[in-house]
Amino acid sequence: MDINCRENLATAQSMIFMGGRPQESLNGLWHYCVDWYNTCLRNDWYKEIQTDELGNTLPLDYSFDEWPVIQLPVCWNLFREDLKYYDSSMVFTRKFYYKSHQGNTFLRIGAANYICHVFLNQTYIGTHEGSSTPFFLDITSALIEGENRILLVVDASRRPDGVPMDNTDWFPYGGLYRDISLVRLPEIYIKDFRICLNPDGSYQNILAEMCLSEQVSGTARLTISEMGIEKEILIQEGHGQLLFRADPELWSPENPKLYEIKASFQEDAVQDRVGFRMIEVRGKDIFLNGKALFLRGVSCHEESVFNGKALTDEERLENIRIAKELGCNFMRLAHYPHNERMAELADEAGLLLWEEIPVYWSIQFEKPEVYANAENQLTELVKRDWNRASVIIWSVGNENLDTEERLTFMSRLANCAHKIDPTRMVSAACLVSAENKIADRLADYLDIIGINEYLGWYEPDFAKLPALFQNSAPIKPVIITEFGADALYGHHGTVNEKGTEECQAYIYQRQVETITKIDYIKGMTPWILYDFRCPRRTALVQDYYNRKGLLTPDKTHRKMAFHVLQEFYNRIAGLSN
Ligand code: GCU
Repeated sequence: MDINCRENLATAQSMIFMGGRPQESLNGLWHYCVDWYNTCLRNDWYKEIQTDELGNTLPLDYSFDEWPVIQLPVCWNLFREDLKYYDSSMVFTRKFYYKSHQGNTFLRIGAANYICHVFLNQTYIGTHEGSSTPFFLDITSALIEGENRILLVVDASRRPDGVPMDNTDWFPYGGLYRDISLVRLPEIYIKDFRICLNPDGSYQNILAEMCLSEQVSGTARLTISEMGIEKEILIQEGHGQLLFRADPELWSPENPKLYEIKASFQEDAVQDRVGFRMIEVRGKDIFLNGKALFLRGVSCHEESVFNGKALTDEERLENIRIAKELGCNFMRLAHYPHNERMAELADEAGLLLWEEIPVYWSIQFEKPEVYANAENQLTELVKRDWNRASVIIWSVGNENLDTEERLTFMSRLANCAHKIDPTRMVSAACLVSAENKIADRLADYLDIIGINEYLGWYEPDFAKLPALFQNSAPIKPVIITEFGADALYGHHGTVNEKGTEECQAYIYQRQVETITKIDYIKGMTPWILYDFRCPRRTALVQDYYNRKGLLTPDKTHRKMAFHVLQEFYNRIAGLSN
């Protein structure tokens, strides 16, 4: 099999709405082998051919069930010391028992970095490309009653034509690091279900939309029992939508009100917990439920010193709690889709989110297949998190030079985001121009302009910070999506000594006192909540960590800059004088 096989690609089009669905977990112990040369694919190990046509036994270079075991989900870099910097392929396999039912059975994988090939009972099923979004494969026809063998090849190779490409400022954990399960569905099932406050400014119309797996017609049912709502949605040729009057208590960070929603069509039923809110931009202001707000945010990687990208709910809740302690109402989930649990927990906790696809730095913008990959990851993210009230901004990328190919590529992505989800804002983290201006041409296609600026750090001359804002005249809201500085916790000195807590705190002080005077800046997500692993950061004080965190990697210690930002946020939130 071609090691670059992209035959039966799982894409956004094969996704299934998961709200409330039972899943048969395949998490747990899997046999694995480190397959540096991709021999499993090259030699078709998955076919398990063990004799020749004459019945003679053949020598094998694998023994699936004698391989050691590993607990999935996993980031293998943290599983074995000798795998710390391993970024090629790993083969995972296990057996499972299956009892058939009337209907379809899908394999769902929450995320695998970076390419995942799926085989079942000596049959190639399909492939997914992309490190941070879920994918589904219909395995119904390959399943057998009783014992089945599943085999996965996860290829973490970094590639120049990838999304992201092979050079990033974060640790490229390899692995199948989110849940894996079987999902049983009736012959006709609810493929997509969306519900939101209709963005018409009335706050009294709810829009529900349903897509089915088949082009059939009939009546779907929708219940929001707390509002005494029971509606029928007319389905025609597999699609239906209903706009109806309701008077929901609005969701906000201060009041994260969620409603239990149930929807059904024939034998299929789904549910969700949804907050109703409206986000919009008018002029240079951002409005939540008709009230202008300042997004008091912080950036965050999906990173755990103990679990890599495979965070636990406790770790996600800790990040949310610390952000709220900091005075945040907003968080930038950089630079790729985080686990869907993050948006669910943010819905419950009342934290607004910026979600982003990893169109990061020098993507190969000229290649159509790279665009298709980026658009697919964007669509997978939007479909996955569409019902999440906390998500208010889709970001189509980060820090890409303003070239013609990039403008074509990312304006097309921005238009795609607007088309598939007209209810949210679209942004990107843009660079400051060489003339020290906010002048990225992509801004014309965005609702909100994200700006990464490191005045005081990479650009030491602070005088350029007020100049940047005076040189610029954006006609829409700007969020400062990154500023910051490295500081090793406990390393003290003068404000001019790079790497000290004092230097980082001073840069935060100068940044916030400048930003607060600029009328078109309506938010900020300083870089970054806590230090994170990064192979590019080799200075002694960094020790392969990016030290721009406000906390240490294990989040046990807050640096001085944490308190500078906290005081600023509490002051502008009117929580302190
Ligand atoms: C860039 C980039 C981040 C990176 C940061 C830094 O702006 O967006 O991913 O970690 O700067 O240099 O620390």
